[in-house]
Amino acid sequence: MLSGRSALPLHSQTARVPAAAPRRCVICAHAVNAAVATKQESRLAFVEQAPPDPILGVSEAFKRDTSDDRLNLGVGAYRTNDLKPYVLNVVKKAEKIMIESEENKEYLPIEGLAAFNKATAQLLLGEGHPAIKEERVATLQSLSGTGSLRVGADFIGKFLPGRTVYLSNPTWGNHKNIFTDAGVEWKEYRYFDKATVGLAFEGMLEDLKAAPEGSIVVLHGCAHNPTGVDPTREQWGAIADVVEQKGHMPFFDVAYQGFASGSLDDDAWAPRFFAERSIEMMVAQSYSKNLGLYAERVGAINYVLADAAAAKRVLSQNKRIARALYSNPPVHGARIASIVVGRPELFAEWNEEMGMMAGRIKDVRQTLYDELVKNNPDKDWSFVTRQIGMFSFTGLSPPQVENMTQKHHVYMTKDGRISLAGLPSNKAANLASAIVDSFKV
Ligand SMILES: Cc1ncc(COP(=O)(O)O)c(C=O)c1O
Repeated sequence: MLSGRSALPLHSQTARVPAAAPRRCVICAHAVNAAVATKQESRLAFVEQAPPDPILGVSEAFKRDTSDDRLNLGVGAYRTNDLKPYVLNVVKKAEKIMIESEENKEYLPIEGLAAFNKATAQLLLGEGHPAIKEERVATLQSLSGTGSLRVGADFIGKFLPGRTVYLSNPTWGNHKNIFTDAGVEWKEYRYFDKATVGLAFEGMLEDLKAAPEGSIVVLHGCAHNPTGVDPTREQWGAIADVVEQKGHMPFFDVAYQGFASGSLDDDAWAPRFFAERSIEMMVAQSYSKNLGLYAERVGAINYVLADAAAAKRVLSQNKRIARALYSNPPVHGARIASIVVGRPELFAEWNEEMGMMAGRIKDVRQTLYDELVKNNPDKDWSFVTRQIGMFSFTGLSPPQVENMTQKHHVYMTKDGRISLAGLPSNKAANLASAIVDSFKV
């Protein structure tokens, strides 16, 4: 058996032998070339170390801290009040149903599980939506929110070449990686106003108006990450006006449906509103947070279009993209989601559990606010309770964040974002005093 480049047997490992003895392969005693036998530098030695991921790197640093006071507020994954990961009861029930029905593990079609695709489009637009009935929605099951965004990004690169993608400033850090790696140019539109710790509404509209016609605008469907600041319904109306006037293509990222307010319908209000106005759009969905299926990678990319024939062709091209990226999506989580959405009793129970998770976050947000006010009544902390979803964007600067971590053992992203999902209520007072102290730095 010969390896292509060196024409040496593949099993050319050498035994440890005295320096003077000829080197021989331990398996076939073939004489081994000295250059292969001596430890040499890899031909990939020029590859530089990639920087740690700004979000996942926080957890790695947290694991190295042994203090009892340590708090990991970096990653956006739900925890119980005892900081335990939570597997939803409806997920356990769906898994039991799956085991009992002895489903096989054959490949799914490239576009994914049909029952899941039907359920996910319904969850997004509402049952019986005309776009679904008229088959104007192309849905491809993909690898959670990230994979769905990436398939969408590749689609833009292939079929909307030269269009720029506009991302909110700030945004979830991975958006930039996704579009960069797909070779799609991106720019930013103003979103967050530091002075009001709210939406930079006028700036956002100005930037979207100034963007070239037909640009792609990435919008967070609800619970904007990292700011927790969403437009009001009236503001969404003005955003839709500009998108329509300029012929932009909205690309909604719906990663927190149901998780923000506890209501699936309320949290889907913005994309449904755009669909109501017949604005064509792309929508990436994730079931990581609302069904707690983080590791199962369940999500979809949807194209809500003006006609069925276009939807059919767009789906065929998305299948082509997915085929080359990963062939077909995983089945386990998609079955869970389709069972939960498809069975009325489980769907009702899911809504209750989501309400419970969203409720815990709201409660701990309120507790943190109360503690901050107690600690420093002179500062306006109302942004904490105005923001929604899993995160609070504290306004702490990078040196202040450094103080949070080095002095108070609070791990959070450098942009000042904290995940309230990682805060137990009995640690809210500690966190409040750490924040108040760090603002003095
Ligand atoms: C805004 C946003 N989009 C997409 C995702 C994608 O997550 P996943 O790939 O786990 O579905 C996340 C996760 O944190 C997010 O916050």
